[in-house]
Amino acid sequence: MTIFFAFDVYGTLIDTAGVTDALKEQVGSRAAEFAAAWRDKQLEYSFRRALMQNYVDFSVCTRQALEYTARVFRITLEPPAQERLLALYRTLPTFPDVAPGLAQLRQSSLRLFAFSNGHPADLESLLQTAGIRPFFEDVVSLYPARTFKPNPAAYAYFHRAAQTGGSETWLISSNPFDVIGAISAGMKAAWVQRSPAAIFDPWEIAPTATITSLLELGQIFGGS
Ligand code: 2OP
Repeated sequence: MTIFFAFDVYGTLIDTAGVTDALKEQVGSRAAEFAAAWRDKQLEYSFRRALMQNYVDFSVCTRQALEYTARVFRITLEPPAQERLLALYRTLPTFPDVAPGLAQLRQSSLRLFAFSNGHPADLESLLQTAGIRPFFEDVVSLYPARTFKPNPAAYAYFHRAAQTGGSETWLISSNPFDVIGAISAGMKAAWVQRSPAAIFDPWEIAPTATITSLLELGQIFGGS
């Protein structure tokens, strides 16, 4: 039986906290707090854009969220500093379990895809730089769909783009909004809870599976 895996990118394969060191130059000890606030606002902007049906490229959400967060932290980001931070978003690191976890799945018959709000060019650059692009059969960007997760149209777009043909399809994501959105749209979904401090939304929708590392996927699906 063919099983498709759609791996979320930002926050699941790629550690968005990777900008923290660069932020220390701007906000010192508040860098981790700034990085988290920037990520939260970036996602909020994507939700609002999809709900408003006023789509912009995800990198615009990232840029505008950076500008908003700088104002909240009362810092002035000069254009060169802002461009350096935004360029970092195209070269963020992977989590340590990602490459070994994906390598374990290489011998299986699983169909592996990356699946993200990100712009195609940004995603290719990010995954190539991170050294994990070869693990994926394809990278499904929602840019052509002109919407963002967790719009059900986003998950429907994945099925068309990956030509799943109704096969069992799992979203793999560290983002509860994404896991809930995928299950609500009819997919199965594994929540990657790398830290016990990560909290899942107390909704009526629970993950199909919860794992603490991509290495566990090999144990669950390795023989598939
Ligand atoms: C994604 O990569 C934003 O994590 C979300 O689509």
